[in-house]
Amino acid sequence: MNAYESCCMQEITGETLRPGGFTLTQKAINFCKLTREHNVLDLGCGRGASIEYLHKEYQIRAVGIDASKQLLQTAKAKNPYAQIIFAKADALPFFGGSFQAVFAECTLSLMDNLDEVLNEAYRVLRLNGWFIISDVYAKNPKALHKLKNFSLNSCLRGLHDLTLLQEELEKRGFEVLLLEDYSHFLKELMVKIIFSHGSMSSFWGKTMVEPNQLCCSFEESLRECKPGYFMVIARKRGDKNG
Ligand SMILES: C[S@@+](CC[C@H](N)C(=O)[O-])C[C@H]1O[C@@H](n2cnc3c(N)ncnc32)[C@H](O)[C@@H]1O
Repeated sequence: MNAYESCCMQEITGETLRPGGFTLTQKAINFCKLTREHNVLDLGCGRGASIEYLHKEYQIRAVGIDASKQLLQTAKAKNPYAQIIFAKADALPFFGGSFQAVFAECTLSLMDNLDEVLNEAYRVLRLNGWFIISDVYAKNPKALHKLKNFSLNSCLRGLHDLTLLQEELEKRGFEVLLLEDYSHFLKELMVKIIFSHGSMSSFWGKTMVEPNQLCCSFEESLRECKPGYFMVIARKRGDKNG
């Protein structure tokens, strides 16, 4: 069981499976001036909440991909007319230059093959296309190695090192135009978890297969990393040298 597939998580986060709900989605749409004329991909669309939101609020018909058959069922039921595909983000079933915007909302931190995922996002975007990432990061990246020993599948195990992520984006030919901290959304989510489950340990215990392995030591390592939440908006430059 992945944490984001558990009903505990869905009860807490509501429609979306991420901190902050649609606030950052809306901010990104305004920043990039996205309209119904644009082709948009939702990378790791989960239960299809953003696809529904984009359509209802902006008449944007986004395409979604996800690697969870369970979550895709809900996404398809919620968005019967949208193109929603079972696929992994490191091997996208689209031609190069298919999209003007790619959203990755709290998904990259869960992906093993991040190098290839970034290559794929770059490939499927048109020139000047937008890569919109919101996700968890470590304010103390020096402690990140401590999380690698845990086998749980939660985005909090994959906190980004923001300096590294920025370097990886720029190396590929993206230009980072916005980088903002939204850690208060992660805090709000954690407070909700503690209210409904008593403590973070109790939540991990309910969502993980091997709770004994985790809980205290995972929480300790996590605390050392000082988790935060961010949004990056990067643009695909004309060529890799700018
Ligand atoms: C925390 S959920 C976020 C879902 C959605 N973006 C949202 O905000 O509601 C992370 C999503 O990433 C998907 N995911 C994880 N690894 C993936 C991969 N390699 N390729 C595609 N999707 C993946 C999961 O199945 C899950 O739906």
